[in-house]
Amino acid sequence: MNAPVKSVLLTEEQIRERVAELGAQITKDFEGKEVVIVGVLKGSVVFLADLIRAINTPVTLDFISCSSYGASTESSGVVRILKDLDRSVEGKHVIVVEDIVDTGTTLSHLIGNLKARKAASVKVATLLNKPERRKVDLHVDYNGFNIPDYFVIGYGLDYAEQFRHLPFIGILEESYYADK
Ligand code: IMP
Repeated sequence: MNAPVKSVLLTEEQIRERVAELGAQITKDFEGKEVVIVGVLKGSVVFLADLIRAINTPVTLDFISCSSYGASTESSGVVRILKDLDRSVEGKHVIVVEDIVDTGTTLSHLIGNLKARKAASVKVATLLNKPERRKVDLHVDYNGFNIPDYFVIGYGLDYAEQFRHLPFIGILEESYYADK
């Protein structure tokens, strides 16, 4: 494997099965409603692409981009919107799709922001969740996997913009960022 991965945490097959379950649950919960899927760039794109194809009710897509870690494995705690949504979400049911909820800072900021735009409802779908790292109170409606406090890469998740293309979730080799 041509990447600094200490071990594979979640295989392609494990991810595929769980994404299908999440899609089925969302289909059931949102049948007959106008749903906007809001992808948080860039980490969510691989998960989002698979998730929407597992949803069997009409959805529209939009994207938002927030400042995140840069080339670091620690959150700065400051959230800025770098690219806003293209369309209004007023009166719409929004599902915010994230790659991972870590401290929860990014999502809690985003949820407040979307509610202020008068969305009919705002739910959260994330592939990964690190509950022990949480700094703010945040309810996750659709959670792929709880994982321990490792820095992970692949399936959309990066370290310094690299490794998003890996088809699995791997634990980043510590020596890789220790000597950066
Ligand atoms: P939070 O605001 O602390 O919850 O951070 C969420 C964002 O941090 C995610 O959308 C990711 O971009 C990034 N992040 C947190 N943990 C990891 C990780 O283990 N690998 C890669 N990115 C991560």
